[in-house]
Formats: sequence, C-alpha cells, structure tokens
Amino acid sequence: MDRRRDVNRAGLVDIIAGARPNFMKIAPIIRAIQQRQAGGSALRYRLVHTGQHYDARMSGDFFTQLGIPEPDVNLEVGSGTQAEQTAGIMTKYERLLLDARSDLCLVVGDVTSTMACAIAAQKLRVPVAHVEAGIRSGDWAMPEEINRLVTDAITNWFFTTSEVANANLRGAGVAPERLFFVGNTMIDTLLANLGRLRPPPFWNDAGLQPGGYFVMTLHRPANVDDAAGFARLIEAVGRATRGLPVVFPVHPRTAKTLAALPQRPAGLLTVDPQPYLEFNHLVRHARGVITDSGGVTEETTVLGVPCVTLRDTTERPETVTVGTNELIGTDPAALEPALARLFAGQWKKGAIPPLWDGHTGERIAEILERLLVRPGQADTPAAGSGGAAAGS
Ligand code: UD1
Repeated sequence: MDRRRDVNRAGLVDIIAGARPNFMKIAPIIRAIQQRQAGGSALRYRLVHTGQHYDARMSGDFFTQLGIPEPDVNLEVGSGTQAEQTAGIMTKYERLLLDARSDLCLVVGDVTSTMACAIAAQKLRVPVAHVEAGIRSGDWAMPEEINRLVTDAITNWFFTTSEVANANLRGAGVAPERLFFVGNTMIDTLLANLGRLRPPPFWNDAGLQPGGYFVMTLHRPANVDDAAGFARLIEAVGRATRGLPVVFPVHPRTAKTLAALPQRPAGLLTVDPQPYLEFNHLVRHARGVITDSGGVTEETTVLGVPCVTLRDTTERPETVTVGTNELIGTDPAALEPALARLFAGQWKKGAIPPLWDGHTGERIAEILERLLVRPGQADTPAAGSGGAAAGS
C-alpha cells in the first residue's frame, strides 16, 4: 500500500526503522496509531524502512512475528561503513521528503538510520520526534553514542524511558514542554508477546531445560572485531558457565570472527540470529544471559533473568540500579567470579523501572495526536529551536 497520497494531509508521521532493535520499538506505536484511527483519528503514518538491516533473520522475521505492516517505502541502503550508510540514508530520505513531505519524522533508538533520518528531516524543517531520547553511555567509541548525541541535538520532541534520560535532557537545556516521559516501547512489545513466546526448533535436540543453560549475544566491535580477544572471551565463557550449554545466536558481524576461531568450548551452541519469539523464550528460561547489547538488558530486567554485560558503560543505568543487570567490563577474567555468584544463588532479584508497563505506545500516539492534529482542523506544528545541546 502506498500511503504517499496522504502526504498533504496534516498529521502524517514518518515512522523510521532500519535495524533489528528498531522493529520491536515501532510495533506498539504503529498499533496504537491504528487503534486511534479506528476511533476516527486523523493521525496518519508512513512506515519508512531504511534497509540498513535487510536479511530475513535481521528484519523480515520481526515484521512477520510482530505484525508490523509492510513498509510503505524501503530506502534499501544496505551494508557499508558508518559514513556510507549515513550518507545513503540521508540522500534517499531527503529525496522522499522532497517528493512527498511528511509532518513529523519519528525516529527510535540509536542506530545509524535514527541519526541519518533526523538530520535529513530537520534540514528540510520537518520536525523530529525521538523515542528513547536522552540516554547516554558517555562512550564516544560507540557509534550509537554519536547517533544519540546528534539526534537529540536536533530533536523537537523527546520521548523518554527513564528519569535519568529526563535529567540528561534537562541538563542539556531541553524545555519541559518538549519532554515526555512515556516509558519503554520495547517492553510494550515484550509484555504483549509474553504469551506467544515459543521454543526454537533446536530446543529438544539440544536438551535445553528451563534454568539449565545460558544465552549469549555479542556484536559490539570492541568485543568481536579482534580475533585474539574474541578467542579469549569465548574461552572464558566456556570456563565460567561450568559445562552448561551456552546458546549463542550469532550476529552477522560476529560470524566473521567466529569462523576464524581455532577452537570452541564444548558447550557453545552457535545458532543463527533468532526471531523475536524464540529469542525471548530462550532468554526467559535461561539461568543467565551474557551480552553486550543494550536492549537485551532491558528485557532481562523485566523478565527477572540475571544478566552479565560485557561493557564498561551503559546508557541504561536503571537495568543495573533497579534491574538484574551487572556491568563487568570487557576483561574476560571478570566472567568467572560474576557467574560464581550466580551459581551460588547470590544474584540480585531486581525490579521493574517506572512506566515500563506495556502502555508506552498508547501514550506516544496520544501525544502525537495532540501535537499534530487539533480537533476539527488540519494543523502542522511549529518547528521549534528546542533541540538539546550535544554535550550532555
Ligand atoms: C547495528 C546497530 C546497533 C544494533 C545492531 C543490532 C548502528 C551504528 N548499529 O549494528 O546499534 O545493536 O545493529 O543488530 O546502527 N549485515 C548482514 N545482514 C543484515 C545487516 C547487516 O549481514 O541484514 C552485516 C553487514 O554487512 C555488516 C554487519 O552485519 O558486515 C554489521 O551490520 P551494521 O548494520 O553495519 O551494524 P551492526 O553491527 O549490525
């Protein structure tokens, strides 16, 4: 379906998605907009897939499982360096906006597509809303941190997941009326799908039992790009997990380094990137999770599953202060003592952060409607100067 014909109607929101962690964040927003439309709302959306992730296992499977409609537009940018992807997305999204302008560009998370579309939109004076705004790791070696800083510097409306994010944005000078503490759309998706989670096809053959295995995900350049360091890390995982199976869905970036490993620990079960329902089934029933992802630490927090993060920093501190996550740094030697505490039954229990309640998408759609569609009239918001300074 081509929704470009709607472009001159007020209330058209471009929803941008490009890479795997975006898809679970947009699903509840789209559903909430559809619900408002069913109730007569004039709010409209155009789903723009940038094509940053294009494999079925990194993209298509998520659309199918989460009931996300086919994108209205696919920019098909594909793989490349950070600058190549940024430039490709900007060029193609700018062309789309010039041909068929929208009233708001809504970006989510911190991937290259988030930043690239925000820049292209704002330069054409299409206002930008950022979902998951304000979080900061402070680590400029992560491309995601650069994406967060740039995006928030030119965002008009900020939808946040935590009080820490609110404080970061207030500290950067964001006016209170531009800041909406709405909660976490990724958790909306998790809670909406809890009853649908299902074991992957290899569950029985691998002899997996609830509480009898670990799940591991690794894809940060700092952990996976150097072959020797990666080999040490995998060896340490083998020791620290004491012979329990370690289910390891391998990200495409990690597959390249993994292929060159001289040997693998006996318990390591390498599998393809898993679809959403299977992955979260694995996580929900795991003894513990070892990861360098940010989003996974939010899911383990809500599922109450112990999580060890192989990073020095996190942009999601509430997963540590409130949830079940612990940062142990990138030295593999830290794994064994951390998992020893887990085996000894000494892991913290954790709690669920405020507003991670399954209703964030609805709150966002309600605010979008207020911002974009006034009763009985078609209106476009005044693009403000309210972006956050980049240095928070
Ligand atoms: C991106 C995001 C990261 C997110 C991760 C989740 C940025 C800066 N990073 O990192 O925040 O956590 O996605 O997956 O946006 N590839 C495929 N098939 C695909 C997509 C990628 O084979 O469908 C390959 C690429 O060719 C490349 C590698 O995977 O070699 C990395 O992909 P890329 O999108 O550049 O970055 P990610 O490391 O996936």
